[in-house]
Amino acid sequence: MTDQISSPYQPTLAEMVKIKQLTEKEKLFTLYLQDGRDLGHRAGQFVEVSIFGIGEAPISVTSSPTRNGTFELCVRQVGDVTGALHRMAPGSTVGIRGPFGNGFPVDKMRGKDLLFAPGGLGLAPLRSLINQVLDERESFGRVIILYGARNPSELLFKDELAQWEARDDVEFHVTVDRGDESWTGNVGVITTLFPKITINPRNTVAMTVGPPVMYRFVLMELLSKGIQDSRIFLSLERRMKCGLGKCGHCQINNVYVCQKGPVFSYAQLKELPEAI
Ligand SMILES: Cc1cc2nc3c(=O)[nH]c(=O)nc-3n(C[C@H](O)[C@H](O)[C@H](O)COP(=O)(O)OP(=O)(O)OC[C@H]3O[C@@H](n4cnc5c(N)ncnc54)[C@H](O)[C@@H]3O)c2cc1C
Ligand code: FES
Repeated sequence: MTDQISSPYQPTLAEMVKIKQLTEKEKLFTLYLQDGRDLGHRAGQFVEVSIFGIGEAPISVTSSPTRNGTFELCVRQVGDVTGALHRMAPGSTVGIRGPFGNGFPVDKMRGKDLLFAPGGLGLAPLRSLINQVLDERESFGRVIILYGARNPSELLFKDELAQWEARDDVEFHVTVDRGDESWTGNVGVITTLFPKITINPRNTVAMTVGPPVMYRFVLMELLSKGIQDSRIFLSLERRMKCGLGKCGHCQINNVYVCQKGPVFSYAQLKELPEAI
């Protein structure tokens, strides 16, 4: 009798334990792997989520690696797979492959000041790293978070944003492109938050994740503050299928984003000008 060989294409079953509506289009799903393993991810990695009979979609893990047992996915409803996920109830089962990709280089960040600049749904992957850093707070220098969303109703994780804002050891600034009658905070795109902070560029590592249009402008701000190219990290969303460096869907030149990325330093991306 031959031993059963596990295939990287074979998903592990995961059960949903909690589902929370975060905004009109985004829900937060809490899951656990039914085989009893921890997901064992690094901040910035993603999983392939399969809905049986419908398909698979890459989704970043939004929970911190420091919090084991269950893991969280923040999913925007845009199409077939994400629509089916949004129709599920606690107790439902999905397939999970991964975690895939490289994740953020957390060890290179220890002792450094950290500047996070997420835009919109880009907070989902960065939240994983932010909460890891806050759980290991003494290992890092200043923590600065600049978060931008289109309008107040699209702000994700509002309870957590309030907690970050209340902490003495986090410098938190938030903005919306368009306010509403109840919004008393900053109005303007995320770059309008940069004049509110001063940094020591020699000791700062910056992370930005958001819609592709945002990257060019945020990069200009980060570079004008003097942060080195090799200390600025972005996460690229390319269409991904296998997550294993086989299908080529995510390929840019000779680079498979699913394996070498999705996190790249700006120094690496300058060698891949098509990427941003
Ligand atoms: C590394 C990575 C991490 C991601 N993390 C998250 C996350 O944390 N939360 C989240 O909500 N989404 C995330 N996404 C995007 C998510 O994978 C897509 O929204 C999802 O694949 C759409 O699947 P669907 O079957 O619901 O949509 P489909 O029915 O396939 O398509 C619906 C619409 O979305 C477009 N679309 C489909 N797939 C993608 C894609 N990969 N990129 C851009 N546009 C697409 C289609 O062109 C179409 O217009 C991530 C993508 C990548 C590559
Ligand atoms: S998703 Fe298949 S090669 Fe990257």
